[in-house]
Amino acid sequence: MTSFRATMALVVVIAAAALQAHAIPPPKTPPQVCVMPNGEGNIEQGKSGKSSDGCMTCNCEEGTRIMTCVSRACPPTPCHDSVKTPGVCCETCPNGPNCKTPGGALVSDGQSVTENNMYCMCSLQFWMPTGGSEGPQAVCIPLPPPPPSGCAFTNGTEVAGTKPGDDLQLDPCTTCFCTDGYVLQCVDEACPAPECSNYFTPQGQCCPQCP
Ligand SMILES: *[C@@H]1O[C@H](CO)[C@@H](O)[C@H](O)[C@H]1NC(C)=O
Repeated sequence: MTSFRATMALVVVIAAAALQAHAIPPPKTPPQVCVMPNGEGNIEQGKSGKSSDGCMTCNCEEGTRIMTCVSRACPPTPCHDSVKTPGVCCETCPNGPNCKTPGGALVSDGQSVTENNMYCMCSLQFWMPTGGSEGPQAVCIPLPPPPPSGCAFTNGTEVAGTKPGDDLQLDPCTTCFCTDGYVLQCVDEACPAPECSNYFTPQGQCCPQCP
């Protein structure tokens, strides 16, 4: 009986020793990962990972743990209101492609605006992004000045409602003609000298007549 008790006690001691052995942490092994550049974290071997900006993809080779990274360069965005999405490398144009006018207005591709007497147009069909470009620019041409509201005498006085080609009877002796340049050119009718002494000039006529 005594020997049985002793055996049981020994078994308990061995079991306790075994439990203790299990409680000892296993020896540390070096992490089986690749370390990404710029503190971007680790990648397990055999896996690939992206940098936080989404532009760099790295692969950690199984076994050798040799890391290969490929960086992506983004082309200039064809808009002035591009947005950066976390984890997506290249900026996108949520409102579609657009241009900026000299005055700073945004014009969608294919659209035009009038600004400071300029007609500005956005056409990105043949847009070639240049290095360091500040984005697509609208192409502007000056607008022709609005036509005057009438033709003017050489002294500058305008006759409202007249247009090129019009004749204007200023008085019975003066006829004016409006040129293409909206200028009234006036001609005074030359009257022959009357051949009598009791001449008169009828109402609305230029030259004197004899009775
Ligand atoms: C300009 O010329 C027209 C035609 O000769 C005349 O009727 C008008 O009074 C003139 N205006 C001025 C401001 O001189």
